[in-house]
Amino acid sequence: MLKLGVNVDHVATVREARGVTYPNPREAALLCEQVGAWGITAHLREDRRHMHDHDMVELVANVQYLNMEMAATEEMLKIAAELKPHSSCLVPEKREELTTEGGLEVAGNLKWITEATQRLQANGIIVSLFIDPDKTQIQAAKNSGAEYIELHTGTFANCSGTAQRKELDRLIVGAEFGESLGLKVNAGHGIDYVNIAGILEIPYMHELNIGHSIIARAVIVGIEKAVSEMLDLMRPYNF
Ligand code: PXP
Repeated sequence: MLKLGVNVDHVATVREARGVTYPNPREAALLCEQVGAWGITAHLREDRRHMHDHDMVELVANVQYLNMEMAATEEMLKIAAELKPHSSCLVPEKREELTTEGGLEVAGNLKWITEATQRLQANGIIVSLFIDPDKTQIQAAKNSGAEYIELHTGTFANCSGTAQRKELDRLIVGAEFGESLGLKVNAGHGIDYVNIAGILEIPYMHELNIGHSIIARAVIVGIEKAVSEMLDLMRPYNF
């Protein structure tokens, strides 16, 4: 069954808008789990714009499977080694971006990504690399020793028509190539209640990581219903 990881960063975004203590990402994460989300994802950014260090501590202590999104920096590797989340997803990070913009450049930084992967794995943390559906990057991910890749679906989400179809075909080929190398394939970024229909054409996926659309819908219908609606849309997946 295709698993759902809910990214709860934007629960903290609402909190940070006022610098108060609510809403609490842990409380939201527990509600997501209660209605069937398999995992919870949180991105500790260098600038701490949403998640703070104490959120990560609370999440790791309270949720079953925490996926820590992080840049492959010395600071984050040290924090992850202490926190020991279930898994980590290495992402590129720029201070000025609104959200993660592109996939990780694994091929051009293979030595460092391999070292970061090994350090995380030595702490019992499963490693996933967030990459574009590009054969060079997928092969490099395999060479780094990471167990998972998370295919970047943001480009697909941000276009339409024939451009979107072309990007979806690239994601399909990427998933097939990853699977053929023995990598486990996840996908994430920009997935919403409409474009999920196309996403389900991608074969061999284990998990989808979805944040913004679910938290946005939660404002209208409540987080339990927002998560349940997404799970209902994911259910027909059978690869
Ligand atoms: N996967 C990765 C690697 C991400 O960086 C993000 C955004 O933090 C997501 C998934 C979730 O993206 P969205 O909030 O657009 O659903």
